[in-house]
Amino acid sequence: MSSVMEQVSVDELPLPGRLRELLAEMGIRELFPPQVEAVKKGLLDGRSLVVSSPTGSGKSLIALLAAARVVASGGRAVYLAPLRSLVYERAVEWRRLLEPLGGRVAVATGDYDRTEPWLADANAVLVTYEKLDSLLRHRVAWLNDVDLVVVDEAHYVGDSRRGPVLETVIARLKTMSEDLQVVAMSATIPNAEELAEWLGAELVVSDWRPVPLREGVAYGSRITWDDGSEQRIARYTGTASLDVALDAVAEGGQALIFVNRRRKAVELASRLAELATTRLELRRLLAPEDNPLGGLLERSEHRELNRLLHRLAAYGVGFHHAGLAAYQREAVENAFRRRVLRVLVATPTLAAGVNLPARRVVVDSMYRYSGGKSTPITVAEYKQLAGRAGRPGLDREGEAVIVARDRRQALHALQAYIHGSPEPVLSKLVSEKALRSQVLAVVASGVGGRGGVKKVFENTLYAKTYGLPDAHIEKTIRLLEDIGLVASGSGTVEATSLGRRVAELYIDPLTAKTMLRGLSRIRTKRMALHDALFIAIWNTDSVLVRPPRRLMLHLEAEAEEYLEGLGYDTYSELDAASIALAAQALYTVDVLVDWIMETPEDEILAKYGIDPGDFRAVTEAAAWLVYSMQQLAAETKHPAAHWLSLLETMVKHGVREDVVELVKLPHIGRVRARLLNRAGFMDLHSVARASPEELAAKVPGLGVARAAEIVQAARRLVQERR
Ligand SMILES: Nc1ncnc2c1ncn2[C@@H]1O[C@H](COP(=O)(O)OP(=O)(O)OP(=O)(O)O)[C@@H](O)[C@H]1O
Ligand SMILES: [Mg+2]
Repeated sequence: MSSVMEQVSVDELPLPGRLRELLAEMGIRELFPPQVEAVKKGLLDGRSLVVSSPTGSGKSLIALLAAARVVASGGRAVYLAPLRSLVYERAVEWRRLLEPLGGRVAVATGDYDRTEPWLADANAVLVTYEKLDSLLRHRVAWLNDVDLVVVDEAHYVGDSRRGPVLETVIARLKTMSEDLQVVAMSATIPNAEELAEWLGAELVVSDWRPVPLREGVAYGSRITWDDGSEQRIARYTGTASLDVALDAVAEGGQALIFVNRRRKAVELASRLAELATTRLELRRLLAPEDNPLGGLLERSEHRELNRLLHRLAAYGVGFHHAGLAAYQREAVENAFRRRVLRVLVATPTLAAGVNLPARRVVVDSMYRYSGGKSTPITVAEYKQLAGRAGRPGLDREGEAVIVARDRRQALHALQAYIHGSPEPVLSKLVSEKALRSQVLAVVASGVGGRGGVKKVFENTLYAKTYGLPDAHIEKTIRLLEDIGLVASGSGTVEATSLGRRVAELYIDPLTAKTMLRGLSRIRTKRMALHDALFIAIWNTDSVLVRPPRRLMLHLEAEAEEYLEGLGYDTYSELDAASIALAAQALYTVDVLVDWIMETPEDEILAKYGIDPGDFRAVTEAAAWLVYSMQQLAAETKHPAAHWLSLLETMVKHGVREDVVELVKLPHIGRVRARLLNRAGFMDLHSVARASPEELAAKVPGLGVARAAEIVQAARRLVQERR
């Protein structure tokens, strides 16, 4: 634990250029305790560090100081985070503070099948874990020349989905540069020492928080705090979570209620707003002067949801979950940040993404729902939620309160969660799915035979803990060889050109296998829309729409028949999980066909009961998979390769084939593309020949200035094609 309360002034640090003044302008003069410790342990001498400390304890500045030193001395720094939102947040700070020191800061989070050549000129690169994995798969040269890698939220190493990516990425970077400085930062974890050993790093452990955190359990009409004290809470609504939240609001704070289901988030928020319509006392407590979400009513899509968010905001209440579209989430977050919303009911996705603290965090349940089952959340998850409590500069203290349903639960919450310590972070590298993907990635990045592959895996946390997973690696190589993705001899192993392509496309080797098999059965120039979509999305890389349970049996029967038609022997070749997945895929194909047939988005959402955020995820994943399938078709000289590239645009934009060209233009989405088409603009040429005035006159709602941009772009595209 941090032993010192020693003051270290920023002035005493050997900082490059104007960094000292820039930090002072931001109000940073003294170091926070974990920062003092990091400097003492050699942060500014290029030592590797593992920093395990609470939310808001200033880990970002630790990363920045390391990056500043590297950049100012002509080196290259890379920052890795699990979410785009975190990458962008850090990039803003790095631009402001590193560019005056000669930093050339670049961000890349987008599509995986890109080498992003412009990154070579940057000396401070911020990316997600997966983006870096993708760059490594493309054998991007500058990656051989990295001096510092900052790993943010390093406890993700223990995540069963993202962990193997992160672990292998770090292992590969370490293999590529002997004296790489690794600064791994994480929330409090009990086995930070193990991570430090893995990385050859010094350890900085601290439990210091800028705003102290008090934790308690609510049961009955009381909160029992962690110091044993008790507090009565008023009965505003009779719903425990709301009453605990309102108790903080009554004292001038804001409250964040975490619930485990989206529906619950909407229900609780609605109930509170509903009560406030009739109860003056609640209205006084909550209602803002102006509705902060007025802007949402101007949108032409997602009308129902926008009206609901707006109505709740009038009473100072909001909800937030992954089903909301990105713009809706952002609007809610901003309103909460501006303190206009007093109570926000959210699912845990909020805690992982943006930095949105509140005076009081209310944990509505210690259970999580998935697939109809409820399982207890981990202590680490609870600590993550609780960590959102307390806004620096606004709250003297943050409070986290777990709501218990009975006395037993209350006791358990206190012992297991509040006084409990988070679970250790353990390697999840050895699962079939993770190894398939990572072994192919490592082989494809050309590390030099079996020896090279093993050298990389020796640098993983898994190998450091349990020894090299030799047998697993060999088994995986054999599987990849069966699919035709690698070729191996004694001591040698290399990726085939197909294998390299699959690694670059960032799809599961089994996904590639399914696609290749489907393509080899249908060797026509155009495929049936339905077949092409099904083959593209029947895999675990896709995001599927969940059918209503009552349809499942019927869909599974349909799926079996359909798969037989595709040449599968469903009895001997496929297990129950593949068939259930096929049923979901068939259902999702219907959704995608509606989308491509230009059914209005709101109609699709209502028909299938999909939330906007999920719908976006479904179409994006499908577009990516169709692209991947197109690339495999091109690689194997399949006659449908050209048509599949049209299909990719159709899926991406939700349009029929005849306007695929038009959606390439700026300001032209699926709706305007159809309007243009109806007005007689059938292709890029006809738009390029038009005058902006003509275009504006024929397309309702299009101004002349926009029309001019569109015509310009069309002319450029036509030119390029010549
Ligand atoms: N030495 C300092 N003096 C004053 N303010 C500081 C100092 N160091 C950091 N801060 C501020 O404190 C906040 C700490 O946030 P930071 O992003 O570093 O938290 P973190 O440790 O990364 O937490 P999390 O685990 O939530 O990511 C930032 O707003 C930052 O500007
Ligand atoms: Mg951080």
